[in-house]
Order: sequence, then structure tokens, then C-alpha cells
Amino acid sequence: MNTVFSGIQPSGLVHLGNLLGAINNWVKLSNENSKNYFCIVDLHSLTGLPNKNDLKKSINDTLKVLVASGINTKTSVIYTQSNLQEHAYLSWILSNFCQVGELQRMTQFKEKASSFGTHSGLLTYPILMASDILIHKANEVPVGDDQTQHLELTRNIAERFNTNYGEIFPIPEKTSGKSGARLMSLRHPENKMSKSSDDINGTIYFNDEKDNILKKFKSSVTDSENIVRYDPKNKPGISNLIEIYAAVNDKEISETEKEFENSQYGEFKIAVAETVIDYLDPIKKNFDDLTSDNLEDIVVSNLKSAKDSAQKTIIEVEEALGIS
Ligand code: TRP
Repeated sequence: MNTVFSGIQPSGLVHLGNLLGAINNWVKLSNENSKNYFCIVDLHSLTGLPNKNDLKKSINDTLKVLVASGINTKTSVIYTQSNLQEHAYLSWILSNFCQVGELQRMTQFKEKASSFGTHSGLLTYPILMASDILIHKANEVPVGDDQTQHLELTRNIAERFNTNYGEIFPIPEKTSGKSGARLMSLRHPENKMSKSSDDINGTIYFNDEKDNILKKFKSSVTDSENIVRYDPKNKPGISNLIEIYAAVNDKEISETEKEFENSQYGEFKIAVAETVIDYLDPIKKNFDDLTSDNLEDIVVSNLKSAKDSAQKTIIEVEEALGIS
């Protein structure tokens, strides 16, 4: 049976890009035949030196959205990284199987190092990511293309450990489900939809009111051709709306183009808004219905399974290394 691991950083309100890019795919995976770990990787978020109260709220909200999203908790374990100290412990061990030069070559490091200044957490972040994956011996990692390099590094780290100390870790593969849509801002479709977007009208948050969702889609930036055609390079705005519609309805891009071949942009925008409203509605409802007692029960039992799995790996790793 496959073991899947993926992580989401708690950095602001969950938005449609997170849902259609990752969480929606996790829901599907959770109904297939694998054991899944879906983790709120708060230790990773520390690299951005977040405000304490914002971080607390993001962790809690993200946890609630994951539970509310419909992830099947029979097959899947949802937990917060900082509740399982084995991640950071394994990260130290694995740092001895990773070259400084490799870390310095990571594109994300190079980008972030220049804007935040360079503390060593930014540099060693991919080792923590490797330990997230390897602590549960995951062999499948559904992530976006921006994480390909980090996953490649994880594979190298695992191989080096195995070569030196015995076959402990599987070599994990990157998977990106069909629905791994990469959403762009509705206002600046050349930029990714993000939590910290300068223009909040470009981002649909999971808990936006219906009217607001409609308003945001109606005012989304398109082009003057007035033909619903997928061409991300020349028509980034419309192409983004096509991606959203296709992802929510689990349709192909070409099917969506065909469905709206006779529609004006105005009509199409409303259709996309309505489909998104219908998609978010049950998630919002589940989120609001989740009591803190219910949540606490889920957190406690999920953390216990995650801990059991992590401790098993740690025992093997320590034995292989001859420590403890
Ligand atoms: N680095 C990932 C991101 O920024 C988040 C992440 C942390 C992750 N650990 C992971 C993703 C392990 C997949 C597997 O999006």
C-alpha cells in the first residue's frame, strides 16, 4: 500500500488556490487505497517570522478547513507538524546527508534569501521537508511544480542515508493529481493567487460571502477577444477562469471551452462564480459546524497515529545509526 505525505503552510486564510491546487486532490486521494498524512507545516512557516497571533489563527483555521474539506479520516491522518517533535529530530539527522551547496542552489532559497535576508532556517528548510516525508516512509508526495527541486533533494538524502546505513527509507515520488490546478490572481492573472496578495479582490477566500465571490469574479481581469478559449500566455485571465471551472467540476479544459463556446465573458464569469459558490458552500458549512470538542477529538486521535508511525521510523533510524 502506498503512503502519501503532503504539507500545507499555515500562512493566512485558506483560499481557492490552496483548495483546487492541493486540498481537493487530498480529498480524492483519501478515498483511494493509500495511507495518507496531511500536515500543517507550521515549523516551515517560521522561516517567514510570522506574527504570533496570526500564526495561531492560521494553524487553527487551516486545520479546520482540512477537516471540513471532506478528507476521509479513516484513511488519512491530519495533524500539525510542531505537535510531533520527531520531524525536527529527524531533520537534524538528515542534515548530515545533505551538502550546503545543494541547499544554496535551491531556487526558492535564492528567491527568498534576497527578500528576507538570510537566516539559516531558509537554507535548511528543504531538509525539514525531507524529514516530513521520510518520517512516515512516504513514497508518494502530491505537490506543485514549485516543489520539484525539494523533492529531488529528498530523494538524494534518502538514497545517501540508505547507502551509508542500510535500506531504511523508500525513495519518494512526486505526484501531481489531475486536479492540481495552479490558480492565478483574478486581478493580476500573471501572478499566483496568494494569501498575501496586494489586491484581496484577486483572491477567493474559502469563507468569502456569496455576493463577494460573485463580485470578485465579475470584476476579474480578462481581455477584449470575448471568446472563452484557453491560452494562458495571451489570455491569462480567461484561461485562469477556465482552469477554475474545470478543476471544480473535474472536467477537461477542452470540455470547458466547448461548454462555453457560445458564451460571452459576462455569462461565463457568472457560471464560474456559481460553480465556486456551490463548491465552497459545504466546506464553509462544515467549518462552521465544527465544535471545538469535535475538533479536539480528531486532533488527539490523529496525532496518536502520526506519532506511532514517526516513532517506528525513528527507532529504525537510531538503530541503523547506532545511537540511543
Ligand atoms: N514546502 C511546501 C510548500 O511550501 C510545504 C511542505 C513542507 C511540504 N513539507 C512538505 C509539501 C512535505 C510536501 C511534503 O508548499
